Amino acid sequence: MMATPLDVNMSNSIAVVTGATGGIGKEIARALAGMGATVVIGARNPDRGERARADIGAGAAGPVSVMRLDVARQSSIREFAAAFTKRFGELHVLINNAGAWFTDRRESPDGLELTFATNVLGPHLLAELLLDPLRTPSRSRVVNVVSSIQGNYDATDLQFTRRPYDGSKAYGQSKQALSMLTWGLASRLAGTGVTANTAAPGFVKTDFNQNAHGFRATMINLSLRLFGVSPEKGADTPVWVAAAPELDGVTGKYFAARKEQEAKTRDRGPIVDLERRCQQLEQEAAQRG
Ligand SMILES: NC(=O)c1ccc[n+]([C@@H]2O[C@H](COP(=O)([O-])OP(=O)(O)OC[C@H]3O[C@@H](n4cnc5c(N)ncnc54)[C@H](OP(=O)(O)O)[C@@H]3O)[C@@H](O)[C@H]2O)c1
Repeated sequence: MMATPLDVNMSNSIAVVTGATGGIGKEIARALAGMGATVVIGARNPDRGERARADIGAGAAGPVSVMRLDVARQSSIREFAAAFTKRFGELHVLINNAGAWFTDRRESPDGLELTFATNVLGPHLLAELLLDPLRTPSRSRVVNVVSSIQGNYDATDLQFTRRPYDGSKAYGQSKQALSMLTWGLASRLAGTGVTANTAAPGFVKTDFNQNAHGFRATMINLSLRLFGVSPEKGADTPVWVAAAPELDGVTGKYFAARKEQEAKTRDRGPIVDLERRCQQLEQEAAQRG
């Protein structure tokens, strides 16, 4: 059963949705544009971005545009943030939805393990670089799309250089780390009008297994096809966290199926440590140019 559609007018809101070329992200973008928001699709592949824009734009109340953004490439995030800030100046909703998992260990253009670069460092750097436009309106929201799969966090081996690489563990670690960064962001921004929460979409029938191979990936794929919900349903909680009037001012929470869930990773020390590690990796990449 679909949840009740939100009766919210977002015609004065600007939203950025990463990974909105397909899957859950495209449905998040469609729902926000349907409520009248100006939606910017952050896409690494402009052709796929354009196809999504054409698909969503036809029935949307708000304008939809595409800007180039590869969340696994730090120079791309910096270029996107600068171009977005120049073009729009303000941002009401940032949805860090782009994400991936890989059964083999890969590296980003910056030489970082690709799950960590895509699912953790990308959302961290993007939110940091968009803080000025997020602070410009009196109210704005950051929504980080996570998963109920979280765990295997090791601050001393975030990129699986010491541990044998395991794609599921790397993915679980990445979503735990993204959650921890969300609590850190929420506490740093307390009282500013910018909120930061996480949303899990559930088990959703998308192309999420496109980079996974082998027996486990085949089984997950089969289960997804059999038991996964539609991308539209998967988008429901992230959209609700981004737009529901009853969540005005609510920050530092974890939601699934439109309900608050317990989050176990709130210790301050590890969060501050992770923020420092992310900043260091970002500075190193910036210095390399
Ligand atoms: N499906 C599930 O059951 C499930 C469950 C829990 C959480 N999630 C989370 O939901 C989010 C969306 O996943 P999905 O299921 O919709 O998967 P999907 O169908 O594979 O879509 C992933 C999206 O992310 C984009 N993307 C990946 N890497 C990127 C990069 N480096 N830069 C920019 N965009 C990038 C893809 O763009 P391209 O078109 O360029 O590939 C695509 O638009 C992810 O964060 C995932 O972890 C999914």
